[in-house]
Amino acid sequence: MARSQARFACQECGAVYPKWAGRCEACGGWNSLVEEAVPAGAPKGLGPGKARKLALVGLAGGGETMERRLTGVAEFDRVCGGGVVPGSALLIGGDPGIGKSTLLLQIVAAIASGKGGAPLGCVYVSGEESLDQVRLRAVRLAVGNAPVLLAAATSVRDIVGALEAAPRGANAPQIVVIDSIQTAYLDTLDSAPGTVSQVRASGQELIRLAKERGFTLFLVGHVTKEGTLAGPRVLEHMVDTVLYFEGDRGHQFRILRAVKNRFGPTDEIGVFEMTDRGLAEVPNPSALFLAERDSPVSGTAVFAGMEGTRPVLVEIEALVAPSLLGTPRRAVVGWDGNRLAMILAVLEARCGVAIGVRDIYLNVAGGLRINEPAADLAVATALLSALSQQPVPEKTVVFGEIGLSGEVRPVGQAEGRLREAAKLGFVEAFTPPRRGGDCGLRLAEIRHLRQLVERFIDRAAGSESTVFPPRHRQSR
Ligand code: TYD
Ligand code: MG
Repeated sequence: MARSQARFACQECGAVYPKWAGRCEACGGWNSLVEEAVPAGAPKGLGPGKARKLALVGLAGGGETMERRLTGVAEFDRVCGGGVVPGSALLIGGDPGIGKSTLLLQIVAAIASGKGGAPLGCVYVSGEESLDQVRLRAVRLAVGNAPVLLAAATSVRDIVGALEAAPRGANAPQIVVIDSIQTAYLDTLDSAPGTVSQVRASGQELIRLAKERGFTLFLVGHVTKEGTLAGPRVLEHMVDTVLYFEGDRGHQFRILRAVKNRFGPTDEIGVFEMTDRGLAEVPNPSALFLAERDSPVSGTAVFAGMEGTRPVLVEIEALVAPSLLGTPRRAVVGWDGNRLAMILAVLEARCGVAIGVRDIYLNVAGGLRINEPAADLAVATALLSALSQQPVPEKTVVFGEIGLSGEVRPVGQAEGRLREAAKLGFVEAFTPPRRGGDCGLRLAEIRHLRQLVERFIDRAAGSESTVFPPRHRQSR
């Protein structure tokens, strides 16, 4: 007779141990191991049973094509790679209160009312809000009359039972939302909802049903302070698509980003704006990230970035101040602090700009996060502009990657960046050396960071600036 076993699962990364320990060896988390009962009767090895005959089939053929379903929310469809795939599972992660429930309610309402094509049957299961709360929200979002089926449930057994009892064929539910997977539980497990084993088992059960019945499953998952999906890291491997809904509470826009997608690219973003009537799509995000100004100010540069296939223009702001501390302060919002350190080192070592002893603040306006190295040149431009107190020429965009020797390297999709800038009324661009058409902008090709430094010194020279060391001025 087998002893009833216990095991300990890390609630942060899902690693399983036979014994308790204070620290998870896999992820280094402290005090994250929780005892969980091993599900009874888990098969060990192959066991006695008789294998069924498994037919092996060819890769080609099959005839049955997976037809994607458009939701009618264009920003969402783009992030998914052109609509959702039947039988697939999507995980939507994000901080509590960022707008996941709002987004999904709007999406199912759009699908159910046929905004993206033929109307489809949609089921929205809320484990966090009561039916009345969901209805109230729907009315607020002006989708109160959408033919969406609602349920307030947390038991996976009940949810699966209801979905299995639903009609098959043309009237079958085709989209199912579980909000959230952390509230769902299976009564066959002892552990509390939200623990790794519950999330894994509930997710598995729901995903199995989605594949079997061919509906698209949306799972909502909350994220921890560290930015990982709490508990359900294990889910990231099980689902087909992982989307993160992120944004700054202080700003009203939200970004939906694909971090894993078996059916499309992962570098696309969807931009939404949180209004008092729910989320509104933002088809032209550049306009949102650029501040309106009457006259140019020093310390800002407009970066012509790409988010996936879409160009996004965004303002980078820098402030350089004398430091009162032994170790000058570096505060970066929306960009990588290590890359800032690298650019400062290149400015100092290769271009002779004395900047290392000053406090430096860098901010990507609007709360966007930039990951592209192509922003290097724009950051350097903002820093030099702040240091010399000379504004960047009006209507100028900047992009380019900076190497450790100070050379400026070409970046991908230059045409797209320039075209977007021209469309938004920009007239000049600081770019890496490039071949090809001019896209209607005046191009200032920057081969080495030194050229950029000289541009700002030229202009600072008239106004007796003390920011550039004499050795640099003499070298001119
Ligand atoms: P919610 O979708 O409940 O977040 P999540 O499911 O990710 O926890 O969003 C809640 C926030 O959205 C809340 O702080 C208020 C804001 N909100 C609006 O600003 N306008 C609206 O129309 C709605 C429905 C919510
Ligand atoms: Mg919610």
